[in-house]
Amino acid sequence: MALLKESDFGTPASHEPGSVRVEVDGVEVEVPPGTSVMRACVEAGMAVPKLCATDSLEAFGSCRMCVVEIDGKKGTPASCTTPVEAGMSVRTQTPRLERLRRNIMELYISDHPLDCLTCAANGDCELQDVAGVVGLRDVRYGYAGENHLDSPTDTSNPYFDFDESKCIVCSRCVRACDEIQGTLALTIVGRGFNSKVSPGGTSFMDSECVSCGACVQACPTATLQEKSVIELGMPTRTVLTTCAYCGVGCSFKAELRGDQLVRMVPYKDGGANEGHSCVKGRFAWGYATHPDRVLSPMVRDSIDQPWREVSWDEAIDFAAARMRDIQLRFGVDSIGGITSSRCTNEEVFVVQKMVRAAMGTNNVDTCARVCHSPTGYGLKQTFGTSAGTQDFKSVSKADVILVIGANPTDAHPVFGSRMKQRLREGAGLIVVDPRATDLVRSPHIEADYHLALRPGTNVAVVNALAHVIVTEELVDRDFVATRCDETTFAAWEEFIRTEENSPEAVEAITGVPAQDIRKAARLYATAPNAAIYYGLGVTEHSQGSTMVMGMANLAMATGNLGREGVGVNPLRGQNNVQGSCDMGSFPHEFSGYRHVSDDAVREQFEELWGTSLRAEPGMRIPNMLDAAVVGEFKAMFVQGEDIAQSDPNTHHVTQALASMDLVIVQDLFLNETAKFAHVVLPGTAFLEKDGTFTNAERRINRVRPVMASKTGLSEWEVTCRLSTALGYPMHYEYASDIMDEIASLTPTFSGVSFELLDEVGSVQWPCNESNPLGTPVMYEEGFTRGLGAFQLTPYVPTEERSNRRYPLLLTTGRILSQYNVGAQTRRTANVIWHDEDVLDIHPADAEARGVVDGGFVEVASRVGATVLRAQVSERVPPGVVYTTFHYPGTGANVVTTEYSDWATNCPEYKVTAVEVRPTLQAPNTHVHAQDSELTAAH
Ligand code: SF4
Ligand code: SF4
Ligand code: SF4
Ligand code: FES
Repeated sequence: MALLKESDFGTPASHEPGSVRVEVDGVEVEVPPGTSVMRACVEAGMAVPKLCATDSLEAFGSCRMCVVEIDGKKGTPASCTTPVEAGMSVRTQTPRLERLRRNIMELYISDHPLDCLTCAANGDCELQDVAGVVGLRDVRYGYAGENHLDSPTDTSNPYFDFDESKCIVCSRCVRACDEIQGTLALTIVGRGFNSKVSPGGTSFMDSECVSCGACVQACPTATLQEKSVIELGMPTRTVLTTCAYCGVGCSFKAELRGDQLVRMVPYKDGGANEGHSCVKGRFAWGYATHPDRVLSPMVRDSIDQPWREVSWDEAIDFAAARMRDIQLRFGVDSIGGITSSRCTNEEVFVVQKMVRAAMGTNNVDTCARVCHSPTGYGLKQTFGTSAGTQDFKSVSKADVILVIGANPTDAHPVFGSRMKQRLREGAGLIVVDPRATDLVRSPHIEADYHLALRPGTNVAVVNALAHVIVTEELVDRDFVATRCDETTFAAWEEFIRTEENSPEAVEAITGVPAQDIRKAARLYATAPNAAIYYGLGVTEHSQGSTMVMGMANLAMATGNLGREGVGVNPLRGQNNVQGSCDMGSFPHEFSGYRHVSDDAVREQFEELWGTSLRAEPGMRIPNMLDAAVVGEFKAMFVQGEDIAQSDPNTHHVTQALASMDLVIVQDLFLNETAKFAHVVLPGTAFLEKDGTFTNAERRINRVRPVMASKTGLSEWEVTCRLSTALGYPMHYEYASDIMDEIASLTPTFSGVSFELLDEVGSVQWPCNESNPLGTPVMYEEGFTRGLGAFQLTPYVPTEERSNRRYPLLLTTGRILSQYNVGAQTRRTANVIWHDEDVLDIHPADAEARGVVDGGFVEVASRVGATVLRAQVSERVPPGVVYTTFHYPGTGANVVTTEYSDWATNCPEYKVTAVEVRPTLQAPNTHVHAQDSELTAAH
């Protein structure tokens, strides 16, 4: 489409009930009470000139460009700060108003470099537009007076410049950083003529700025401008698409000039992000065209041979012939496939279809195995649906927010900003995390309670919270009586009451003072609306599924389900974790979480796919790897997951890969797994894909091709060809045909189609006959399984314990600027913020070991060792060390163990007993060419 300019109503919409009728230049318009006169004017089709107002920010009233006349009111009020009143009659164009506006514009322009023709913002500048609208032809004051024309430009940020000479001090950037992003990195310093915008008196690079770009988007001039626009020129057309990093799933306008992508601008109508983004989605997309990409298929007979570039046909025939041969020699179940949470729903669906229908086995699993599989299990057992309960917007109605094992300001930044907005409005906050994350204490936020538990003791903490709720009579008996299963509740109540679950009893296990747990439980249980948000700090444990059920129990016991502001909400790691699970990637489930042993469901698939399907579940990833080591599993198709780097206990994974006769890797880059591969099929970046991603709030978003595929084929086309070569012909004309098939086979998706998504933007499943436009909040009436089922959640300590040899517990997480194994973000300018992984260690533990801040340390567990730079920090408690895992050379998974969640095999990444010793050996943290864009885990 041509360049999409979204309408700007000047001030945010009012959500007050009722309506007020006003007249604007003789045109009647009805708006909600609390609407500004400016917004009413736009609604009536009479846009008022403005500079300091924009509808993503509260009205500020500083430029006075938006003056109007209102019958019965004296003077010329600013329309942006004046609320409508019933019966008002407003005039937007009179000779007096025109004169006033021209005078104001003249003052602005007399202190502005008039180089529009050569300015990067030419054609996309509100100052330029308004000068035209008010008819400014002449500047009577001249340009010789005192001015700011020689002010310097701050070019320190890798993605945008700050050219002070073009600043009109409208404060839009300052307010965007404050109101939208919540970082408050910018201020106005000085007064009157000397007032100017400043990133805290330093450069952008050295300030608290997190490079979200909200200020750049809000700036009405070229003062804050993307470097890519300065370099490439103003874009001329737009493609709407979805970010491919985290599970927030932000919608973007990809803006191009010809075929060249110039910038990504967050889309105001995007349901997940409503016009905001983080540094990754907005700026870190350069990896998509990085020269490291593999663009042609490659094969080799054995992994000690060099790669041979071949045609698609040759690579596919090679792979299919080998798979068939292996199945003949070792049996049908000696091969399998892995789908990726980085790929579209359509790509994932065809891979699992190929495995089940063409390979004839249920040996298909997904990288969600190693991140959120316990979410699927735990929420299904308690509520009946394997998904989060709310939309992101819902957090704005929460009175108390309980964040467990999640660090949204780094890992889910756009949702983190929403959450911070609510916290700054006064919502209570409880953080359950071994580390003091930013939410615990930052200049503008402070948690009411930080339960700094020992890693691995989540379940003891959630049980203790529930114990207080039950024993202090804080249970919502009405909710439990009407919405939950009586028998399971009674059993749970009896279990949770026992003394062993009391805060006092678990204090020694968890390290959390009993009184803090008691107070936190009361805060959560007595709030009108209390919401739980959690992340991989919950799921990646040997009791991950138990913990998910524990949180679901807590929400049911306090009636915190079925409306806005409440719920149990997983913050998904990858862009399409939810979708890859929904699409039937697990060995025991078809799409929509229906068991393969369910005859009626299986028959439906058999009929449409024209083949018989297996009724027994296949192998999970860890089972496939174990079977490979003993010689029973021989071939694996891995799409978009670098299991050699992202799965735990690297030594075991590489041993398994080396034992196989055929490893087929499909990815953007030659990753660690590809070292063991016989076939490499090039993958496409999100900018080339056509399909859908489903985010953490079950929102199905369109991903549209911004540029032509660099490999000539989409992943789904490659899968279809491979399936056909295996003897099961599979063909679709368009990606939308695949979604049509998904909809026809999956009750929760039955209303979904590309047409609908193109029409309404996005929908949250279930989307079907009863909910044709989707379901933002689940369980308003009842649970999917009818009555909510409480589950017993006894705390079972992990086998992985610190001991004399390995006395510290290692836990892991992400940093804002990097993403997962870093394959994408390390191929962008984001490396400027984080160029190596470091180990956080408490001063007491550091001192006891002679570890100095900035020195190298060896981190050893019983399965392996790696070297990192130490950072002495009180963010971690004594006894706990912490690292990120964005650099392959760091090899965090060299030390993680084989322990996993009892129900789902999700690895226990978050607890590894280690010892830390100073070393002189430097880490190999800058390995670059051998990793994966699509890699999952954590
Ligand atoms: S910021 Fe706008 S008004 Fe100023 S020179 Fe650039 S295009 Fe012209
Ligand atoms: S980029 Fe974001 S964090 Fe940085 S100053 Fe602008 S709004 Fe604030
Ligand atoms: S918050 Fe997540 S989805 Fe949104 S722009 Fe950032 S990485 Fe992308
Ligand atoms: S737009 Fe209303 S005062 Fe600036």
